[in-house]
Amino acid sequence: MESPVRVESQLTDKGYVPVYTTAVVEQPWDSYTDTDHAVWAQLFERQKRILPGLACDEFIAALDAMEMTPDRIPKFADLNPILHAATGWELIGVEGLLPELTFFEHLAQRRFPVTWWIRKPEQMDYLAEPDLFHDLFGHVPLLMNPVFADYMAAYGRGGVKAHGIGTDALVNLTRLYWYTVEFGLIRQGKSGQKDDLRIYGSGIVSSKGESIHCLHSDAPNRIGFDLERIMRTRYRIDTYQKTYFVIDSFEQLMDATGPDFAPIYGRLATQESIPAGDVLETDAVYHRGTGEGWLADGDV
Ligand code: PHE
Ligand code: FE
Repeated sequence: MESPVRVESQLTDKGYVPVYTTAVVEQPWDSYTDTDHAVWAQLFERQKRILPGLACDEFIAALDAMEMTPDRIPKFADLNPILHAATGWELIGVEGLLPELTFFEHLAQRRFPVTWWIRKPEQMDYLAEPDLFHDLFGHVPLLMNPVFADYMAAYGRGGVKAHGIGTDALVNLTRLYWYTVEFGLIRQGKSGQKDDLRIYGSGIVSSKGESIHCLHSDAPNRIGFDLERIMRTRYRIDTYQKTYFVIDSFEQLMDATGPDFAPIYGRLATQESIPAGDVLETDAVYHRGTGEGWLADGDV
């Protein structure tokens, strides 16, 4: 393992320029400052307070099972035995973003890369790249769920394969990650009725503003999960999502993504991408967004 370095991506006049590193590092726990621990405490308590009733039951249950607490930044070494016993996953420390293939290979081996550094106090509500709070609080709890844990490993294997196929396949697969792992909603409800929508996406649960926006705002679309539709849909990296996709269950996600994607990539290669905010006639619409506050351009 190498010594940790805080790598910051740059905001330049050409926009956001990410920096990629491959190093796996020991979490430099002793070097966290009081401010770092205080930032963790504030973010953790804020999300714990608002997420009941918004986040899915599996997420809330896993947060408790993992024994993450607000008083100090968790040690990966303390979380790993719990996580490993539940689903065979392990956390590894990284500087920040990884090259795609490296990331996929880790996932396929059930290693989840967690950025070791935490945001500054002035970045409580937004930062342009993943930090420890997003990676640990956002992604790790659902890795305690056996079905979701299998989905993430299958995604890693699928990523290695897509990487060998080409750039277009990777674009399609990345959209799937974005609209499920990062920004997914799930149907859930009292007494098995499944009439409420809840959050499971890590990009949402780690954001106070989007946790409320995705479920309670009239602006965004909320649409039933459809694999190929999602793989054609562009997305936002700089604003709340214009569209969220809703799964019925993690089993549905696992089943839908089980088949070989190679023929799907072939089919999608000849189709136009779909703008982030569009609603199609074939969509199962839970809510048609008003589009309030949307920017006209900037979908990626
Ligand atoms: N079945 C996919 C493939 O053949 C693998 C995969 C599984 C991708 C789950 C994403 C999520 O590529
Ligand atoms: Fe993420």
